[in-house]
Amino acid sequence: MFITFEGPEGAGKSTVLLSIADRLRASGRDVVTTREPGAGELGKSIRQILLHGDDLDPKSELLLFLADRANHVSNIVRPALARGAIVLCDRYADSTLVYQAYARGLDEAFARAGNAFATGGLVPDLTLLVDLDPRIGLTRLQSKDRLDAQSIDFHERVRDGFLREAASDAKRWRVVDGSQTADLVLEACWQFIEPLVR
Ligand code: TYD
Repeated sequence: MFITFEGPEGAGKSTVLLSIADRLRASGRDVVTTREPGAGELGKSIRQILLHGDDLDPKSELLLFLADRANHVSNIVRPALARGAIVLCDRYADSTLVYQAYARGLDEAFARAGNAFATGGLVPDLTLLVDLDPRIGLTRLQSKDRLDAQSIDFHERVRDGFLREAASDAKRWRVVDGSQTADLVLEACWQFIEPLVR
């Protein structure tokens, strides 16, 4: 079972992911928590460039997210799925589509094809969108990396992009209101996950 968590900055998806993992582990499930960018050794180096590098061309940015993803899928995600684990991943291919194509304006067809190439066609069983107005989300951040520091317009396009993707594939996506308390966000996510892991 492969479940991804997506959303704009500060929506609380990383916190809820860890709480879901605790709950699943408490019921005896084998759970792997992971994230993009930055899982594994190569991922750590790529993450450093992506979040803190200077002078990064937007095309390089897109290719580095794909490079990170290709390694992550083949070295971490696929082996975990193959042994029957539940994989909870903080951001995945949808973030590239939304941040690099919708928000940055790079070619959408290329981003989609790049994702398919990097993942070998691995699509999540479920994607939870923790949705939040970026004007609220950005004020929740303690510190800002290179992407957080983009304009409010950029972050509005990110939010709209996620909502658009979620609406276009209601079978895979579920939308949760990230403006609720952390406990309510957790329960809202759990109601979508629980039937799949019963
Ligand atoms: P991170 O510190 O992991 O924060 P969070 O996921 O909690 O926002 O930062 C990852 C940043 O990288 C985030 O701003 C989203 C961005 N990103 C992309 O632009 N494209 C991608 O494909 C991925 C995976 C992330």
